[in-house]
Amino acid sequence: MSVSRPAAVIVLAAGEGTRMKSRLPKVLHEICGRSMLGHVLAAADELDPQRTVVVVGHARERVVQHLKDTAPAVSTAVQEEQNGTGHAVRMAVEELAAQGVTLSGTVVLAYGDTPMLRGRTLSDLVEAHESDGNAVTVLSAEVPDPAGYGRVVRDASGAFTCIVEHADATPEQRAVGEINSGMYAFDGAHLASVVGRLSTDNAKGEEYITDAVAILRGDGHRVGASVAREWTEIQGVNDRVQLAEARRMLNDRLLTGHMRAGVTVVDPASTWVDAEVEIGPDTVVEPQTQLLGRTSVAEGAVVGPGCRLQATRVGADAVVRHVVADDAEIGPGTSVGPYAYLRPGTVVEPAAKIGTFVEVKNSTVGEGAKVPHLTYVGDADIGAGVNIGASSVFVNYNGVSKNRTTIGDHARTGSDNTFVAPVHVGEGAYTGAGTVVREDVPPGALAVSAGKQRNIEGWVRRKRPGSAAAEAAEQAAGEGAEAAERRDEQ
Ligand code: UD1
Ligand code: CA
Repeated sequence: MSVSRPAAVIVLAAGEGTRMKSRLPKVLHEICGRSMLGHVLAAADELDPQRTVVVVGHARERVVQHLKDTAPAVSTAVQEEQNGTGHAVRMAVEELAAQGVTLSGTVVLAYGDTPMLRGRTLSDLVEAHESDGNAVTVLSAEVPDPAGYGRVVRDASGAFTCIVEHADATPEQRAVGEINSGMYAFDGAHLASVVGRLSTDNAKGEEYITDAVAILRGDGHRVGASVAREWTEIQGVNDRVQLAEARRMLNDRLLTGHMRAGVTVVDPASTWVDAEVEIGPDTVVEPQTQLLGRTSVAEGAVVGPGCRLQATRVGADAVVRHVVADDAEIGPGTSVGPYAYLRPGTVVEPAAKIGTFVEVKNSTVGEGAKVPHLTYVGDADIGAGVNIGASSVFVNYNGVSKNRTTIGDHARTGSDNTFVAPVHVGEGAYTGAGTVVREDVPPGALAVSAGKQRNIEGWVRRKRPGSAAAEAAEQAAGEGAEAAERRDEQ
């Protein structure tokens, strides 16, 4: 059965989350590259609702800013004081009324601290709700440890009658393993009528949205509880232990999806991926690897061990080992690392090589070019087929401004070169070892800047007498004389 487009999704995010012991509002804590609230909104988005309202309260400037940055289409309703989930929903309903929205059709309610939630679970809930013609349908779950949750109470015939909060429950009710997930599908008109009738007659003295069940049932309407297929999905996060558990579970779910799609994950236990990461088939992700943000890895690539890639695009068949990269483009067939650091704006063109202990920033390394060892490349454009000698530095900063260096195609620069930007090395040019390149090098020229080498004979014997160096030098001198004698005799 197809489900309707919900009239609205309401997400509660006004609570402080005291148990997190954090300056950051609870719902903004991140797992797998998204805030907890962001995960709930992503699941809700799959329902394609006509509007989404987030109820904000505690530290609301931060939550509102976060929503502006990540989910600009949602609107917010303010709950000045956190007087309970029912009060929070009332604020959302009043905000919608103020916008001129008369609720009819299905309204979905979820809490902002359930990051494992999946869109499919919400659409299953809406489907059950609409096919049963309920005034409200609660998503329930059988959990191993129901402590802390509201319990789903059924009468002798098994009919769902009400939700009782843990603090208000009798011992018999506490023994019930079926709990309220905190996700609901409401008939919009019934929701609008019920939020004004919630009492504060309970252990916390708050308006509970859970009381809507008993009230609507008392009005003679149908109410239902639909059991979630996977209880792990509805787990709420209240402290940092649960945050870590949720992160682990979500990561496992994401990795399972990638493995089923043809990715070899050598060690799932030490591999972390964010929700938005894309990985092509026949790729290998080696241990101790983190793929973060909008990172993508194309078919046949090998990433890891020991990589941390943030918003980085890895091309097909690239091999990337022990690399930290942020906002970099690693082309197909390239080899990067071990121990390379690619900073924002790095483009490694196809078949290029970035070797060991190399840092690259805001630079392009051309097709087939090599920067193999111990080098800093900052603000440079390196042409195709270039070889950069070991231990070179692109001096991009003069203390005031940053400047660029360009190296023409197929140039070969010597070891231990310094490129003092702005400077250009022409196509096919060479530079000698130890060159300080301060002036442009014409195409095909050889640039050398070091002076002619001068040897001061006997300096060690005179200035460092008795040292191990002096002894070694004397011995070598003696052996040299003997060898010369032997040659003379022959
Ligand atoms: C709630 C449910 C409980 C359910 C559990 C599922 C109620 C009364 N209880 O309990 O039945 O089993 O979730 O996880 O609904 N919030 C506001 N304003 C408020 C209070 C809360 O916006 O005044 C928000 C919080 O930010 C949070 C969500 O509502 O995202 C849930 O609040 P929380 O205090 O965590 O409720 P639980 O005690 O977990
Ligand atoms: Ca909770």
